[in-house]
Amino acid sequence: MLFLRLMKILITAGPTREYIDPVRFISNRSSGKMGYALAAVAAGRGHRVSLVSGPVAIAVPSGVDCCMVESAAEMQAAVQERFDAVNALIMAAAVADWSPVCRHSVKQKKSSNELLLKLRPVPDILRTVSARRKGQVVVGFAAETGNPEEEALRKLESKGLDMIVGNDVSAPGTGFDVDTNQVIMLWNGGRQALPCLPKTVVAEHIIGWLEQFYAKRNRL
Ligand code: PMT
Repeated sequence: MLFLRLMKILITAGPTREYIDPVRFISNRSSGKMGYALAAVAAGRGHRVSLVSGPVAIAVPSGVDCCMVESAAEMQAAVQERFDAVNALIMAAAVADWSPVCRHSVKQKKSSNELLLKLRPVPDILRTVSARRKGQVVVGFAAETGNPEEEALRKLESKGLDMIVGNDVSAPGTGFDVDTNQVIMLWNGGRQALPCLPKTVVAEHIIGWLEQFYAKRNRL
């Protein structure tokens, strides 16, 4: 009966990009390492994994189905297209929060004048899919500077998640573009704070939590 515990898991990873003109964009420092570690660990444990990834320089783990995207709108479309068919979603991607109101179709000429950019917020992918879920387990991340617990708890509740992984992205050796991460996992009625660990080991803890939660919820 162990095969009943195997899930279809949708994972997002990496940054998104919002273009100002054909050669310039707004993005962030996400390398995709955390999301790809989750995909590799989940696939290694026998789960069927779909990865929706922003632009990164990492090889897709073996056995993982991957869809590459660039903008938040493309990531949202790819997640929405796959969400109904999965048992769980883990959003490890760092979605760029703002997009230029105007995208220039030609490269803007350099000038000595100031360039003013007007930005608007992009849609919250996690909040949108979480609101229309039908039994899927939904896990988010919270990238915080300082004490991540309070803000992660707020996001757990406001986005209607089953679990959130808070990480301090300002401390050395944790967060963006490093091989290690220090996280706190928070869910309704529980918390687990981990020391700074390799991202693959952090991924083992997160996938382990997901397996237990899914089995308990479905009485498997
Ligand atoms: O990729 P690495 O270099 O390995 O770095 C890993 C990481 C720091 C990117 C990762 O551990 C992490 O924290 N990912 C989430 C980053 C983030 O966008 O956090 P947030 O607190 O801004 O967003 C909260 C949650 O909402 C996240 O799950 C995010 O994916 C999601 N979100 C955010 C904005 C948005 N428009 N749509 C979303 O779905």
